[in-house]
Amino acid sequence: MDLSKIETLLSEKEISNKIKELGEILNEHYKNYKSVYVVGILNGCFVFLSDIIRYLRFPLLFDFMTVRSYGKYVESSGVVQIIKDLNVSLYNKNVLVIEDIIDTRLSLMTIDTMLKTRQPREIRYCVLLDKPQRKKIDMFVDWIGFSIPDVFVVGYGLDYAEKYRNLSFIGILKNG
Ligand code: IMP
Ligand code: MG
Repeated sequence: MDLSKIETLLSEKEISNKIKELGEILNEHYKNYKSVYVVGILNGCFVFLSDIIRYLRFPLLFDFMTVRSYGKYVESSGVVQIIKDLNVSLYNKNVLVIEDIIDTRLSLMTIDTMLKTRQPREIRYCVLLDKPQRKKIDMFVDWIGFSIPDVFVVGYGLDYAEKYRNLSFIGILKNG
């Protein structure tokens, strides 16, 4: 793997500190909940989700949904297709959606609209990365790990053309 095109933005240590911090915030918020249904949005969420759930101390179940957003690699159209849906109903559940990154927020907004038709009791969002400069719509996100500049990042679950998801840090991909 050619790492010469990748410049570190967030180190493994910075990420793990943030995961711990987010985990504590979630534990405080959900401390009196009897059950939380964690929904991971694949593929990007898998590293973040597997790290954060090990800090969580409230009763939870989890499942995954695989979506594909159209608009190629660097620009989202907000058109999201479900490739693999959840296995259970969200009706009357306390849902916590885990996502890797929001950019324009169009994809998450579409996911939010879809999931709300399933009538969960509540639905909240925890996202590792946000690019505030790219925001196109006002969609409220409950918890955000890092706000990052308008750069294309890979690693820690994030890809460019399905590559680099396995990097332990988050890096900026130079020259596409
Ligand atoms: P949005 O609809 O513009 O918010 O785009 C969100 C989706 O675009 C994410 O779920 C990612 O799949 C992808 N994406 C946006 N920015 C990046 C990035 O910097 N690296 C990798 N994927 C990204
Ligand atoms: Mg994604």
